[in-house]
Amino acid sequence: MKRPKITIVGAGNVGGSTAQRLAEKDAYDVVLVDIVEGVPQGKALDISQAGPVCGYVETAGSSVAVITSGIPRKPGMSRDELLATNAKIVKSVVSELVSRSPDIILILVTNPLDAMVHVARRVSGLSKSRVIGMGGILDSARMRSFIAAELNVPGPDVEAMVLGGHGDTMVPLPRYTTVKGKPISSLMSKDKLDAIIKRTREGGAEIVGLLKTGSAFYAPSASAVDMVEAIHKDQKRVLPCSALCEGEYGLKDVIVGVPVRIGRGGMEQVVEYELTAEERAALEASANAVRELCAAVDRLMAS
Ligand code: NAI
Ligand code: 2OP
Repeated sequence: MKRPKITIVGAGNVGGSTAQRLAEKDAYDVVLVDIVEGVPQGKALDISQAGPVCGYVETAGSSVAVITSGIPRKPGMSRDELLATNAKIVKSVVSELVSRSPDIILILVTNPLDAMVHVARRVSGLSKSRVIGMGGILDSARMRSFIAAELNVPGPDVEAMVLGGHGDTMVPLPRYTTVKGKPISSLMSKDKLDAIIKRTREGGAEIVGLLKTGSAFYAPSASAVDMVEAIHKDQKRVLPCSALCEGEYGLKDVIVGVPVRIGRGGMEQVVEYELTAEERAALEASANAVRELCAAVDRLMAS
């Protein structure tokens, strides 16, 4: 049986790790693309199942591409400072991919995430269901792991939902955070929970500060693989991802992290949770921050 082809653009830390995780499933043909000659070849040889390429010819007929190409931040930098460099990279990568695989589903990883989803949509002309960003799954996984460690419970017992842009304005939702169905507010003090929320917001920067030469990649690649699998196995999982809102949550024409149903069609539906006025206001503020970044990237692309 013909296996789905998954292209991964950017054979760096996130891309290499994503390729390895997908190759180990033995269910996909994995194509690894990078501009640096030798990097995808070396990593694919190392992984041994991925087909290494430096150009895009081999990507033709891909069902999904995970776009990780771009620079990561250095200590002290915000994700937003990557905007100009990474927008150019994402623009060229998306054109190459879509010209060879017109029905592709794009999973963006490159930061600043929500603005890169916006660039990919503009450049590709693909429907909103086919252009999705990975951010909220990672942020929620971080919150879950901090809670699991604090309460000394297994990670899988913890449910958490972080919405909003993948950046400083992200919106962790304690009301939707539970351990085996028990509300988190009944299991830890407000001070402890506030500290976990702060650590979640700063989770990416904490790792950048420790690594010094790059950003997180093990948990990010696992999150990207969750999305690939949800698509290919038509799982209909509800995951927090960056997607275009057209009225949902009262948000019009903005790409931001919201719960979405992921299946064979890509982002099949934005799922609306009931939010309090305060939660809604936080989501709106985050969406406004993304809007500003998207306006800045539009100006850059027009100039
Ligand atoms: P990295 O530096 O290890 O890898 C990036 C790779 O992209 C390099 O191998 C580079 O040669 C390649 N590249 C650059 N321009 C290219 C082009 N035009 N075509 C093909 N390949 C190109 O960086 P890392 O750690 O893999 O991170 C990649 C991006 O993902 C960064 O922007 C980072 O901020 C972002 N990121 C986002 C996360 C999220 O939750 N959305 C999580 C982790 C990283
Ligand atoms: C993170 O949150 C770099 O955005 C990435 O780790």
